[in-house]
Amino acid sequence: MAPHIQAFFDEPTNTVTYLLGDPETKEAAVIDPVLDWDHNSGTADVRSAEAVLAAARAGGWRITHLLETHAHADHLSGAPFLKAHTGAKIGIGEHIKEVQRIFRPVFNMEGMTPDGGDFDLLFRDGEVFHVGALRVEVMHLPGHTPACVAYRVNEADVFVGDTIFMHDYGTARADFPGGDARTLYRSIRRLLSLPPETRLWMCHDYKAPGRDHYAWQSTVAEERAHNPHVKDGMTEEDFVAFRTARDATLAAPRLLLPSIQVNIRAGRFPAAESNGVRYLKVPVRAAQGVVLA
Ligand SMILES: [Fe+2]
Repeated sequence: MAPHIQAFFDEPTNTVTYLLGDPETKEAAVIDPVLDWDHNSGTADVRSAEAVLAAARAGGWRITHLLETHAHADHLSGAPFLKAHTGAKIGIGEHIKEVQRIFRPVFNMEGMTPDGGDFDLLFRDGEVFHVGALRVEVMHLPGHTPACVAYRVNEADVFVGDTIFMHDYGTARADFPGGDARTLYRSIRRLLSLPPETRLWMCHDYKAPGRDHYAWQSTVAEERAHNPHVKDGMTEEDFVAFRTARDATLAAPRLLLPSIQVNIRAGRFPAAESNGVRYLKVPVRAAQGVVLA
């Protein structure tokens, strides 16, 4: 039976969260849930996650899995809130360990063992698990980050994370620590070698030039025909040259620092300090030639 797929678009972070349900058993997964985060005031809220919960309740879905496509750098994960309300397991690609090893020293996270242990499930490439009767195959598609995975459901629908964007927009940056444009190109070609009718569900959308609405579903055929960065005929060398030049112009994502600290720990915030308050860190860098007091 075709899965139930319901999208929730978070405009502040341009992120799409999905509720993926099996109509036979009514079991469901939530893919890439968002925690609302007001960075100026340091306030976390759960409006977005509550909207997913309310939809699940209304549809009679029982959430068993919370699936991250990668450690996001542009929003904080709402997975722990949903886990607390559903008992669902939080899963991510096993290479999250590598991402934890990269960022542990950046934030001096002495309390974190980079073994992926904050997550309930660590997926290998090719691993198959089930959401109700839906067959989900994990595809390890590194490049944007070392741990990126896509979830391929019943060989018909793929939740691609940031491996690729809409066919009229392009691709994600590959310049985060552990990212690599050449690796991303190869991951994209692997994704686009799936049958042409395969539906691809994006994790983000930013509206393409000339398109005035958000969109998040494409197909392998549409990406191969139109994607300006990776359509058929774009070589690996073309892509690496373009992506590297473009990435050099991009600023750090607005929520990079809070997102990474929280998301590599499966959405957990640091423990409260002696005053009962939790703090996130900002590693301070001095611009070239500047000596800080
Ligand atoms: Fe991302």
